Amino acid sequence: MAIGGAGPLSHRRWWRAGTVQDVAPPEILDLGPGYLDPSLLPVDLLRESYSVALAEFGSAALANGADRGALALRKALAVRAARADGVACEPDQVMITSGVSAALHLLATTLAGPGEVVLVDQVGYDHAKRVLADAGLRVREVPADGDGMDPAALDAAITAEGGRIAFAYLNPTFQNPTGLVMPVQRRKEIVEVAARHGLMLVEDCAYADLGLGPRRPPCSLGGLTRQRGVIRLGSFAKTLAAGLRLGWLIAEREVVDRLTGTGVVAAGGSLNHLASLAVAVLMRDGGYDSHLMWLRAQLVHRRDTLAEGLRDRFGDRFALAVPEGGFYLWIQSTVDDREEELVSSAMSHGVRVLAGSRFGPVERPSVRLTYALLPPGELVTAANRLELAWS
Ligand SMILES: Cc1ncc(COP(=O)(O)O)c(C=O)c1O
Repeated sequence: MAIGGAGPLSHRRWWRAGTVQDVAPPEILDLGPGYLDPSLLPVDLLRESYSVALAEFGSAALANGADRGALALRKALAVRAARADGVACEPDQVMITSGVSAALHLLATTLAGPGEVVLVDQVGYDHAKRVLADAGLRVREVPADGDGMDPAALDAAITAEGGRIAFAYLNPTFQNPTGLVMPVQRRKEIVEVAARHGLMLVEDCAYADLGLGPRRPPCSLGGLTRQRGVIRLGSFAKTLAAGLRLGWLIAEREVVDRLTGTGVVAAGGSLNHLASLAVAVLMRDGGYDSHLMWLRAQLVHRRDTLAEGLRDRFGDRFALAVPEGGFYLWIQSTVDDREEELVSSAMSHGVRVLAGSRFGPVERPSVRLTYALLPPGELVTAANRLELAWS
């Protein structure tokens, strides 16, 4: 059975209390979490692909999955990675995970030991830092400039730490929270510094398939090294549905062997078997690509609505670079604002935004705004409220 194309989606837009993670109450326009609007979640498409996967794979869909994850999905992901970077990638280098955060936890507990250092972007994905710290790693922030992590600062941080550093974690494509894309030259410099010190790089590509402009993102760090010394993390949380808790990693075969040789994999097999088969079916039948195209168009519209709304209302008061992909606008105050006041006055006018310093030490008062969670009309209302709050 073939799976049809994407959108418009038929299900109603609502959250069920007690079933989904907490969101702001209805009277608050929520520009906080990196969630997809419920109306962008492909309920019908996934219902069909789960049903096709169960019909096609039968009891094999409900058994313990292969340790690396179902071959059907690993093959599809290897082909996509090879196509994106123009570098060979074999299914054996791919492992199915339960998403980026769970993969990061696996890396932190398998490839590192408590007390070891992990290097991260100075301003970067807050939950990744938390996952690493939860595993007992000492998280050290490396300064960045407008192109991302600074190679000289990385070099200095490695030297300063002296002892073993578990790995460095970066999010070079459509970074959360800044939206930054690390240019290819900077990628090469980072890879060179890491290789010189024998440092493993962990590259979070959660938003890499969500380019919203004409330019393709540069070659991944893993692509630049033919995956030597780099572990690439991917997720379907932002492109399909966070509730799937499905992702993958790409690494050297020996690294994948080590990760699949852990108790958690031995105990139950693939880290998310049925979901991986449903998504493999979706990819094979073209539903994933058509959904991605549709989703990107929705996100472009939302991003532009919020960015224009803020520019019209605030002019130069905030520095705002429209991101080429991902979910977030990162605005930096050009005047004497205080971050806590920006956040609290927004909230008292019914808009939730996140303080920039939540993501690390910021140079200027900053705020992150998600445009993926609200429909365009509500983004306009949110901009109106922010104008009242911040004027
Ligand atoms: C950079 C980045 N990586 C990973 C994730 C979450 O991925 P997953 O749900 O697969 O753990 C997020 C979500 O906000 C993110 O911003």
